[in-house]
Amino acid sequence: MNPVTNPFAPGAGSQPPELAGRDELRETIRIALERIRRGMPTKSVLLVGLRGVGKTVLLDRMRDDAEAAGIHTMRIEAPESRADT
Ligand SMILES: Nc1ncnc2c1ncn2[C@@H]1O[C@H](COP(=O)(O)OP(=O)(O)OP(=O)(O)O)[C@@H](O)[C@H]1O
Ligand SMILES: [Mg+2]
Repeated sequence: MNPVTNPFAPGAGSQPPELAGRDELRETIRIALERIRRGMPTKSVLLVGLRGVGKTVLLDRMRDDAEAAGIHTMRIEAPESRADT
């Protein structure tokens, strides 16, 4: 395969050319956010998974989805080894 056009480009947090297999989770979040927008109760969501399984890119895509729906979002990183006050 041509290395220039090879879509496999692993890297922490870099969006893949195709976010495979995440449509159901994105729909779950869309429903939850729409319920919140209407002042209705909904469940919290916590993404847990092995190193490199795709948590960061999924979170960022969910954020893009929310912004596209007119919802303001905030991205905060909290490294467990750093204690900011
Ligand atoms: N659904 C997906 N389809 C295709 N590629 C994906 C998918 N999810 C993640 N990747 C790719 O896998 C790599 C790792 O993704 P990401 O950095 O989001 O993982 P992570 O779970 O946040 O890792 P870490 O635990 O190290 O923070 C990236 O190159 C990303 O583009
Ligand atoms: Mg990550």
